[in-house]
Amino acid sequence: MATTLLVVLGLALLSADRGTGAGPPKVNAVKKSEQATEREEVVLVCKSESFPPVSNWEWYKISDAGDQVLTNNSQDRIFVVSTETKTELHIRDLDLKVDSGQYICNGTSAEGSGHAVITLRVRSHLAALWPFLGIVAEVLVLVTIIFIYEKRRKPDEVLDDEDTGSAPLKSSGHHVNDKGKNVRQRNAS
Ligand SMILES: *[C@@H]1O[C@H](CO)[C@@H](O)[C@H](O)[C@H]1NC(C)=O
Ligand SMILES: *[C@@H]1O[C@H](CO)[C@@H](O)[C@H](O)[C@H]1NC(C)=O
Repeated sequence: MATTLLVVLGLALLSADRGTGAGPPKVNAVKKSEQATEREEVVLVCKSESFPPVSNWEWYKISDAGDQVLTNNSQDRIFVVSTETKTELHIRDLDLKVDSGQYICNGTSAEGSGHAVITLRVRSHLAALWPFLGIVAEVLVLVTIIFIYEKRRKPDEVLDDEDTGSAPLKSSGHHVNDKGKNVRQRNAS
């Protein structure tokens, strides 16, 4: 009588334990939305800590023509790296039109399957250039201001030079030439 009770109790505990651990895997996207620049690489990541562990990961891209399976063999720009707890979708050489959109990671275990959705936004290469172009524009404006400022100052300086500065400059030039001649003559004799 007591043993039957224990067995029943044991079975009840076992099934309760199973109840908490079992069931389809819970799959989470590490980042629900991702932004990347065209021609660069992006990595989309999903995780699952569930037990039993995910035995098979699959990636899809949602499209109007039906979900498209993404594997290592589907395109040479795309590859998938998976472990029991994590899956990564790598997309290289991102294309603005082709790669923007929603992706599904689907993890399947003995108990069923679960999935998460990640939205990828691919921005134009130019978008990444804007901050740089801003700096270039700033520099151009500064250079222009300095240039205009210098141009306005120049006529005054030219006048000053003609009034006073030119005569001493010429004479000193003569001196240097004379000295040079003397040295050369001395060296020759
Ligand atoms: C896909 O390719 C990557 C890199 O070449 C490799 O690490 C990975 O294991 C491959 N995945 C599958 C599912 O074959
Ligand atoms: C996930 O994969 C399983 C098994 O391949 C499939 O039955 C299920 O429909 C998939 N779920 C999604 C959301 O694609």
